[in-house]
Amino acid sequence: MNAAEPKTAPEGRDPLAGTYRAVRSHSLGLAAPLSPEDCQIQSMPDASPVKWHLAHTSWFFETVILSRRPGYRPFDPSFAYLFNSYYEALGPRHPRPRRGLITRPTLEQVLDFRAHVDAAMEGVLGDPQLRDAVLLGLHHEQQHQELILTDIKHAFFANPLLPAYSDSPLCLPARAGESLRWLEHPGGIAEIGHAGGGFGFDNETPRHEVLLRPFRIASRPVTNGEYRAFIADGGYRRPELWLSEGWAMVQQEGWEAPLYWLKDDDGSAKENPLVFTLAGVMPLDPGAPVEHVSFFEAAAYAAWAGKRLPTEFEWEAAATADACRGGFDHGQVWEWTRSSYDPYPGFRPFKGIAAEYNGKFMVGQLVLRGGSVATPPGHARPSYRNFFPPSARWQFSGIRLAEDA
Ligand SMILES: [Fe+2]
Repeated sequence: MNAAEPKTAPEGRDPLAGTYRAVRSHSLGLAAPLSPEDCQIQSMPDASPVKWHLAHTSWFFETVILSRRPGYRPFDPSFAYLFNSYYEALGPRHPRPRRGLITRPTLEQVLDFRAHVDAAMEGVLGDPQLRDAVLLGLHHEQQHQELILTDIKHAFFANPLLPAYSDSPLCLPARAGESLRWLEHPGGIAEIGHAGGGFGFDNETPRHEVLLRPFRIASRPVTNGEYRAFIADGGYRRPELWLSEGWAMVQQEGWEAPLYWLKDDDGSAKENPLVFTLAGVMPLDPGAPVEHVSFFEAAAYAAWAGKRLPTEFEWEAAATADACRGGFDHGQVWEWTRSSYDPYPGFRPFKGIAAEYNGKFMVGQLVLRGGSVATPPGHARPSYRNFFPPSARWQFSGIRLAEDA
């Protein structure tokens, strides 16, 4: 792991302590618009209650750092079972699909847990030997901050009232896209992976060489307007456009549009469809990036458009190449790539408890690159590898096209 603070660090004598406080308070800020009832619900097995996210991110600091310090007293020994996510080495844990059933501890008690952990952490933030572990905990918490937003969006969509999370500008859909340009990349040997000089997860390393063929990549993600043309052309009714597993999902789930596009009462195609956002129900912006599509939908759209999805290596090379950098617009939606989430050559997991952080998930998932409106500022970078199963739609996931040159 390479040590560097998330970019939320304020000025001060102790940047790590300032960053710690900023990241931890941002989580509370995300929960601020929510009631205790909102924080309790779990709308599907893949999503978690906001209360669980607030507790689990504190559990991480307590388990990885504080519990190894002499004299530290855990806030509540039962939390080790309740708020462990997937760390087998730490023993049994409450099943993920049943996190919404944990009505006790209350939200108030979870907030007390956070305060207990924060008070103890203040005493260790100056220890240089713990710096890497603290940074991992902060970047971990930032990942859960995005999940707080995607999970509450999914939960509110399950509410017939379709409530708004917030009317803040941050909750509005991404801005309208620029006109599409095709950025040329000459191919050749590209350096891929984290280059050092800042924090990186183990899955971004080691940096290594990849041979690319010449390619072109879109300057921006596919827009809602472009995706509507795919739907209007029978995109969800034409099996020849779909991967076999994707077509099965279309049949099984009745997919006809991205996740949060509202269905018309009369089944007809409205001139201006409505879409559910964190700011409530809004008219669909045809110029904004399409979001909440699965990998299967992204691949079908690309087939319909006569293009393909980029590999994660093409994506990273384009995002960092001098030739493309000026025109490569990213950070609005996570963009599905055609790359399986695999270890880089020579991959070594983090040491200790964090060995389970990434490596054991490297099968059956696809890499997404970029970042989204819900990603905390400064969290993502061109070498960042997000990953989800190909059918996942509740993340802010979109599409960027590529083609062979
Ligand atoms: Fe986690």
